[in-house]
Amino acid sequence: MSSSAVPSFSPDAPEIHADPYPAFGRLRELDPLHRSDLGYWVVSRHEDVRSVLMDRQGFGQGDFVENIRLFYGPDFDVMGQRAYKWLSEVFLMQDPPHHTRVRGLVTGALNAKRVRAMEPRIRQIADDLIDAMLAAGRAELIKDFAYQLPVRVMCDMLGIDPGDPRLPEVMDAIARSFIVFEARALTEQELAEANEQIGVLQAFFEELFADRMVNPQDDLATALVQSGGQEDALSHEELVTVAIGLFGAGFETTAHMLGNGILSFARNRQQWAALVADPRNRSAAAVDETLRFESSLIATYRTALAETQIRGETIYPGEKVLTLIGAANRDPRLFDDPDRFDIGRDARKHLSFGGGIHFCAGAELARLEGRIAFEQLAEQMPDIEADCAAPEWRPGFLFRGLSRLPITW
Ligand code: HEM
Repeated sequence: MSSSAVPSFSPDAPEIHADPYPAFGRLRELDPLHRSDLGYWVVSRHEDVRSVLMDRQGFGQGDFVENIRLFYGPDFDVMGQRAYKWLSEVFLMQDPPHHTRVRGLVTGALNAKRVRAMEPRIRQIADDLIDAMLAAGRAELIKDFAYQLPVRVMCDMLGIDPGDPRLPEVMDAIARSFIVFEARALTEQELAEANEQIGVLQAFFEELFADRMVNPQDDLATALVQSGGQEDALSHEELVTVAIGLFGAGFETTAHMLGNGILSFARNRQQWAALVADPRNRSAAAVDETLRFESSLIATYRTALAETQIRGETIYPGEKVLTLIGAANRDPRLFDDPDRFDIGRDARKHLSFGGGIHFCAGAELARLEGRIAFEQLAEQMPDIEADCAAPEWRPGFLFRGLSRLPITW
């Protein structure tokens, strides 16, 4: 079937915002290597998304400035924008060897052993949050729980006081600046706001690191500062960039995984009943099925580094490919009846943590937070009900999550 059978893919179309899966399904089944009018390729089958993410010779991040100019035109001053300059330095956006060096330091801090050691603390945080909701008698899940849990975990890790009065401003700044990850030109207002908000984040984390240089503590911020002196040490500016990236990646995606999970359970009551019947043993599967069914990151993109073939078509160096993780996760070639939310299936082949050299550095931590959250909610609020008639999705395409989800129990 030719591309003309499927309308050109545009990530900011309103129907995609409301529910991307019908459009994802059409692309995946009718035009799996789609040429978008926006000037990039779109892949949607599990096999293709996976192979683009895994193929480190053929695909990588490429020339950052050229990639962004694809959206804005050849004269756009990419590095003159504070937010894009920051993004260009985030190690996710870089190829080896720079990527390898910074990733090594970060994965060291987030390795499985360290993450396991955080379990009692995460349980405590989840308990406190659930107690507070129970005491209040009503709650809005996103604000009162889904954001709070991962933010407190990230605060613990980095050594930020969760009572710091600047924290709400920092969280808001993440939401408003991470829009630079989107695969499109931002409006003038969005870009101005992203530039301003990155400035807020840089000031906050610069102060944190400056403090840890003189007041070392037992936290990740100090460990990062003290990596100075070693051969592969990060500069002060790099430290700030890494910390913003980690803090943001650590809470936005995880928060929305929790919200998307509770929404999916509210729409599929028998699945919630199955979890409530055995929370301890079924919460890990609930996390994977949530990630597969309603991933909080539904796409990412790569640039061809060498001439490569996909489905018989040549992709030339410099060309950009949007990999639709959300479409791959519902590929019927991998998952039976993929549009059904079912915690009884084996969903572990989802691609919601990416793949290859950029595989999510926080996957262990996100899984643990998800497992504890679903387990404790099922145990302590077995009769939870969410207002799921008309979910309010937050703006943006790449990150998919709810702005609010009122709950009762
Ligand atoms: C449900 C929660 C999460 C989801 C769905 C998620 C998803 C992803 C995906 C898809 C990628 C790869 C992006 C690409 O290849 O372009 C990624 C990378 C990354 N994630 Fe996560 N993530 C989650 C939680 C976390 C947490 C909790 C942290 C940190 C504490 C984290 C830190 C990172 C970092 C640092 C990278 C960049 C890795 C690299 O470039 O080598 N993520 N994540």
